[in-house]
Amino acid sequence: MPPCPHCQGAEKFFDAGTARGDLEEYRQHGPAKTTQLLLKAIRGAAHDDKTLLDIGGGVGAIQHELLADTVESAVHVDASTAYLGASQEEANKRGHLERVKYLYGNFVELASEVEPADIVTLDRVLCCYPDMPALVAASTSHARQLYGVIYPRDIWWMRLAGRAMNAWFWLRRNPFRFFVHPASIVDSTIRASGFVQRYHQNSGMWQVVLYAR
Ligand SMILES: C[S@@+](CC[C@H](N)C(=O)[O-])C[C@H]1O[C@@H](n2cnc3c(N)ncnc32)[C@H](O)[C@@H]1O
Repeated sequence: MPPCPHCQGAEKFFDAGTARGDLEEYRQHGPAKTTQLLLKAIRGAAHDDKTLLDIGGGVGAIQHELLADTVESAVHVDASTAYLGASQEEANKRGHLERVKYLYGNFVELASEVEPADIVTLDRVLCCYPDMPALVAASTSHARQLYGVIYPRDIWWMRLAGRAMNAWFWLRRNPFRFFVHPASIVDSTIRASGFVQRYHQNSGMWQVVLYAR
């Protein structure tokens, strides 16, 4: 089956140049500030020997960090081959390549082929996907204990920024779009899957949230 238009757009936007730049940034400065907040919340809630499912993991910051002290193994599902390549390169450098399984594609379509994990993370991924309820339902059903998300704050200037970005994608003829999903609906959709919120922090344009069963 050919990739959905959104995933074709993600493949085009998150290309080799973007992946290389993000990997260099991660190597020089470590995880983004919001990712560090989520990692701290996860470490505070999880104990050793967990499994991780990192959906849209990009260069793999969450998995590389947690493989050092919190998780035994990880699965990285991503709609960008360039990001999967960068994530594998870093895993190889850090000596944990054999502990990570990589899958290319749209998680909503691949979900039935992926094993559940103790911890599921989506760091700046909900904003890349049009059908938020489908992505949340597919991903929460794979989370045995913890569910961590970083997604845009639902405020007027973020919605305005989203419109400007989407006009740019339209001009570039890229079907990729940026979505500021209503936070109350994201939250209620996650809670409806049996989770309670354990941590919430706004940081700039993002909100960092950890849920537990
Ligand atoms: C903005 S990047 C974030 C990358 C990384 N998590 C970070 O915070 O640096 C969004 C990532 O989500 C991936 N993605 C978007 N929609 C996806 C989907 N439906 N299934 C799998 N990956 C997806 C993209 O390919 C990309 O790697």
